[in-house]
Amino acid sequence: MTPGYELPGTDESYWMATSEHPVFPALEADRTADVVVVGGGVAGLSTAWELARAGRGVVVLEADRVAAGVTGHTTAKLTAAHGLVYERLRRTRGPEGAARYAASQQAAVERAESVAAELGIACDLERASAFTFTTDPGRRAEFEAEAEAAAAAGLDAAYVRETELPFPVAAAVRVDRQAQFHPRRYLLGLASDLRARGGVIHERTRVTGLGEGSPCRVTTESGLTVAARDVVVATHVPVFDRALLFARMSPRRELVVAAPLAAEDAPEHMYITDEGGKRSVRTAPLDGDRRLLIVTGEDFTPGTGDTRERFRRLDAWMRDHFPAGPTAYRWAAQDNDVSDGVPLIGPFHPGARHVYVATGFGGWGMSGGVMAGQLLTAVLTGDAPAWAGLYDPRRLRSTVREGTRLLARQAEVARHFVGDRVMGSRADSAEEVAPGTGAVVRDGARHLAVYRDAEGRTHSLSARCTHLGCLVAFNQAETSWECPCHGSRFGVDGRVLQGPAVRPLPPAE
Ligand code: FES
Repeated sequence: MTPGYELPGTDESYWMATSEHPVFPALEADRTADVVVVGGGVAGLSTAWELARAGRGVVVLEADRVAAGVTGHTTAKLTAAHGLVYERLRRTRGPEGAARYAASQQAAVERAESVAAELGIACDLERASAFTFTTDPGRRAEFEAEAEAAAAAGLDAAYVRETELPFPVAAAVRVDRQAQFHPRRYLLGLASDLRARGGVIHERTRVTGLGEGSPCRVTTESGLTVAARDVVVATHVPVFDRALLFARMSPRRELVVAAPLAAEDAPEHMYITDEGGKRSVRTAPLDGDRRLLIVTGEDFTPGTGDTRERFRRLDAWMRDHFPAGPTAYRWAAQDNDVSDGVPLIGPFHPGARHVYVATGFGGWGMSGGVMAGQLLTAVLTGDAPAWAGLYDPRRLRSTVREGTRLLARQAEVARHFVGDRVMGSRADSAEEVAPGTGAVVRDGARHLAVYRDAEGRTHSLSARCTHLGCLVAFNQAETSWECPCHGSRFGVDGRVLQGPAVRPLPPAE
């Protein structure tokens, strides 16, 4: 890490900083509903709203605050162009599978626009094209094939060699008729209308248990329950996982920096490349003469490596490529990649009759979450579309491709479980932990997660993740403990910031 490097900007997502923060009450008594939706992000709120619109009585239970977790920290591109996916989908799921993926994701883009218009939500939704580019001339054939596959799947896609970016690209896939928006303003608009339709939202209500039956019953941390005919689990990673879906997903964290840019220098469209740790570019309205440049990248497994150094690299890349002003915001986003590259939306497990899941959006949760709302509502109201099977979590996972990735993923998890290779946050004793930092310290047979605050006090927790027991590691840029196995995150006081863990790291005696 560069000595003396100060992280750029305010440690806050632009979406969180520029939206209202309505408060919804915690659950205070047992209750019943037609459907209980667990999780108040884009997938949960979209599903709840669609169901309420279809006449269902819906209760949403959110562990923290709605639209504030992954959804409040996204790049907020609404697009069916998900990098280089269509050529792979055509190979693995056939031309029909690729076409269904394209149609369902594009329909979600259209749906978000029409819902925002119908409800009058001022969410800065702008139409733009989505470009996936490379600077490597050796990859032109790959991009040509992707453009052809995306067009064959039904998208408005073309292979191009030039863009408006202020640096040369070797090749790109351009997909028209996509969009970008302010995700929190959109979702808070949905939440408001959901309540107007009789839906109920409870925040600060962590779900810890699920009983399947007639009715199903979810139990919260406080012991209160909600009974419902159907349950939708839309919690980023399922908080209870009878189908072991987390074993088919890899957590991925990425960083975001944002800075003002003169409107005449701002790209009109959205861009992404998988090169250099991934780089994604879009802008958002800021004020009359300026737009906010939002650059995302530096993909990494939570709990590994030096996040401060990653922020430095990402900020430097933004400055090298755009004449941006001082960095105003920085934040981080997290998502899960499914081993076969397609989200898991549908019945939770082979025996599930009334429990559904939406997860594994692979970084494309805006279109994926809106689409999940449409799909699950159709399934729950008995009108499942022909393409539901594409996303069905019960789909066969024994293809060679997924099997290989699954084995590699489990080997990595086993390595982190043993814990001896988690880098960058180890110390021999608590005395070695400097103020403002944290490290895992071995204490006999135990591993302790030790954080020393700025005043020099130590805060010691068990370093064993309460999900399945991997060792956590310290993320200094975000002052948090992270689990590299399935992406759970914890505060320095042990509280759960992100699942699948539902229990805090216990204090060490
Ligand atoms: Fe699964 Fe930590 S998130 S073991």
